[in-house]
Amino acid sequence: MPLKLTVIGTGYLGATHAAAMAELGFDVLGLDIDERKVEMLAQGRVPMFEPGLEDLLSRHVAGIEGSSGRLRFTTSWEEVGEFGDIHFVCVNTPQKHGEYACDMSYVDSAFSLLAPHLRRPALVVGKSTVPVGSAARLAGLLRSLAPAGEQVELAWNPEFLREGFAVEDTLHPDRIVVGVEGERGEALLREVYATPLGEGTPFVVADYPTAELVKTAANAFLATKISFVNAMAEVCEAAGGDVATLARAIGYDDRIGPKFLRAGIGFGGGCLPKDIRAFMARAGELGADQALTFLREVDSINMRRRTHMVELAREALGGAFLGHRIAVLGAAFKPDSDDVRDSPALNVAGQIQLQGGQVTVYDPKGMANARRLFPTLGYAPTALDAVRGADVVLHLTEWREFRELDPAQLGEVAGRRHILDGRNALDAALWRKAGWTYRAMGRPNA
Ligand code: UDX
Repeated sequence: MPLKLTVIGTGYLGATHAAAMAELGFDVLGLDIDERKVEMLAQGRVPMFEPGLEDLLSRHVAGIEGSSGRLRFTTSWEEVGEFGDIHFVCVNTPQKHGEYACDMSYVDSAFSLLAPHLRRPALVVGKSTVPVGSAARLAGLLRSLAPAGEQVELAWNPEFLREGFAVEDTLHPDRIVVGVEGERGEALLREVYATPLGEGTPFVVADYPTAELVKTAANAFLATKISFVNAMAEVCEAAGGDVATLARAIGYDDRIGPKFLRAGIGFGGGCLPKDIRAFMARAGELGADQALTFLREVDSINMRRRTHMVELAREALGGAFLGHRIAVLGAAFKPDSDDVRDSPALNVAGQIQLQGGQVTVYDPKGMANARRLFPTLGYAPTALDAVRGADVVLHLTEWREFRELDPAQLGEVAGRRHILDGRNALDAALWRKAGWTYRAMGRPNA
């Protein structure tokens, strides 16, 4: 009998994992506690913008014409418990309000609600990013609550997908990491990934704490790389150097590599910022806080990028925001996503508004989420409308649409032709040719 899989939590991670598993030939049942989400998914619609996901989903959701019918969704824990041989837990672990630590309540509640329905041998696989030590604790919880007791095993299998590339990253991962205690978990996960997904992909078997730490360490490294290049941007600005050329030159060294060296207004989103903070909090609990004090600096360099952009904008306006119109291009924390969680762009927009500026934001996909989070900012239906009458334009999320804008056309409607490129992504020469004063981050002369 082929393995039957369930996926608990249908956000970026869960919805993509469920669709990918159906694509690989498994029968999959997805669960979410949000009925509205389940209804949407059951029609093959995705509640967020994620390139390629809706196509992948509709190829498999039962009831959609021409679909494989291998993918269904439910809100019933009982149904999930009965159906699955393997249960992937994909719920989110946000930052606790007002604290660095990670909020484990969604994970804890998923495990507590699932366990009483595990009446036969099953493998529960955690995919969420959690503080090290969680897997061991959750394994105990499963054993005590599941009617099948010792026949229920736990594995930890962190996910490394990037938003905007969720489908590609899930179907073509760089590596598969599984944290296991006991051989059955490893054997079952090898079976799941013995598909095109796992072919030629490094398969790393570890204990629980190592598997949990791989994920947080990877995100801490990525955040550090970005803050490193942003620190170099600060030095370049002081010294008259160009951080983009510097990054390109150091990136040619194989040991450094060219990726994640784009200086700008820094990292945001639902993962990197909260993951490095949760990592510091957990290290503190373990008495290893000294090992991660550098992450405090990584975080503050990152936050400084946002205030630096605000300062550059104020400077461009002659020292004060009051009475000025500021166009903000970008609201999502990165392009190809509608996610505005901890978005550097919206943080900058919010700071400027607080200081008296009249801000108008435009983003290709993030408008609805931005409006919900920052209802008092001004919004425009197009980039051209946002720029109309603006005294300064801030480019804060590097969507392709913004790179393809015609600076001459924008120049005709702008109040003043002044643009600050917070992502070092626009063609400086093109903008200058159209009469704009162009300024980038860490590139005083570029
Ligand atoms: C990240 C990790 O990449 C992924 O492996 C993990 O599973 C989840 O966290 P994600 O948050 O989707 O993924 O976005 P990512 O592409 O990593 O970008 C994070 C932030 O860093 C964005 O705000 C982006 O604009 C910024 N960034 C990225 C830079 O400022 N400079 C860079 O060079 C790269």
